[in-house]
Amino acid sequence: MVQETGGHWRRVIIEKPFGHDLESARALNVTLREVLDERQIYRIDHYLGKETVQNMIIFRFANGIFEPIWNRRYIDHLQITAAETLGVGSRGAYYDQAGALRDMVPNHLFQLVSLTAMEPPVSFLADAVRNEQAKVIDAIQPLTPQEVLTFAIRGQYGEGFIGGERVPAYRSEPNVPPDSNTETFVALKLRIDNWRWAGVPFYLRTGKRLAKTVSEIAIQFKQAPFRLFRNTPVESLQTNELVIHIQPEEGVSLRFGAKIPGPIMRIGPVEMDFNYADCFGSTPSTGYERLIYDCMIGDATLFQRADMVEAAWNAIMPVLDLWKALPPRDFPNYPAGSWGPPEADELLARDGRQWRRVE
Ligand code: BG6
Repeated sequence: MVQETGGHWRRVIIEKPFGHDLESARALNVTLREVLDERQIYRIDHYLGKETVQNMIIFRFANGIFEPIWNRRYIDHLQITAAETLGVGSRGAYYDQAGALRDMVPNHLFQLVSLTAMEPPVSFLADAVRNEQAKVIDAIQPLTPQEVLTFAIRGQYGEGFIGGERVPAYRSEPNVPPDSNTETFVALKLRIDNWRWAGVPFYLRTGKRLAKTVSEIAIQFKQAPFRLFRNTPVESLQTNELVIHIQPEEGVSLRFGAKIPGPIMRIGPVEMDFNYADCFGSTPSTGYERLIYDCMIGDATLFQRADMVEAAWNAIMPVLDLWKALPPRDFPNYPAGSWGPPEADELLARDGRQWRRVE
């Protein structure tokens, strides 16, 4: 079926997870290349089909004002969240083998990291864009085993409440063993070791049965010097925050400080908001529609190349290895309807930071 005879193309779309670790992903790539040419292989990641995710490229590279400040001189850190109120539903059998790390991080979350952190591509040709994405994924520093213990947090939901309704613990979901040690929540602190991002932590978190369904990229800028406000009642300055809202809200917002009217010098955080639906109407789409169309017209820009997939697995292998060697002893460690285990908050608190409050 895959032979391109009579002037017709044959393309194969492959759904994630692509392998279950670096070795199996490499083996799968080798096997595929025995029967297919790389240009026929479309490794799909539906996050790349989302409008707001693609908008990151336009936002960064079609506007003159952001790129000059898009680096370690101005940015303090980034927070990438993909939270869901949903549990594993009927997918327990798959999910229990995968876990939150494999299910979301080397694919969806790393797509967000790569588009946010990559260098400007020289064109929109598939390989020009993917070369830059691949470089960034390659620059994600694999954690040492010692770092995994502090920079990689795992959790599993217990019973709790979502929208006022009691929901069962992960271990009571259909097709999940009652003693499962599979994680349903992950938080990570990553470093990208290149000139643009050296010293800027990327905090990632994703999980099931969290307090809210929300995916977003929050860019936290460095604080302005405080000296000017020392003799005023202002105690601290909030930092500027740029948030790319991916779902369910689609848009971009920028927080800055404004003077609260009155005779006393007080500062209040305010926001400038751009909302997709208000400006362009809503375009309900899962991401898949666009990607399947792109595959049919032979545009692989928004698909994963073999090297990107392997670089992503390479970055998370130390976490997979250590977690396998040291099974968790405290699961379940967060109630459904919360923002995950307390260790996820401590991960940022240790650095004097906190997760953005998502309302
Ligand atoms: C899938 C994961 O790839 O992405 C699911 O397997 C997850 O566990 C889903 O729920 C999230 O996608 P979306 O588009 O709903 O954010």
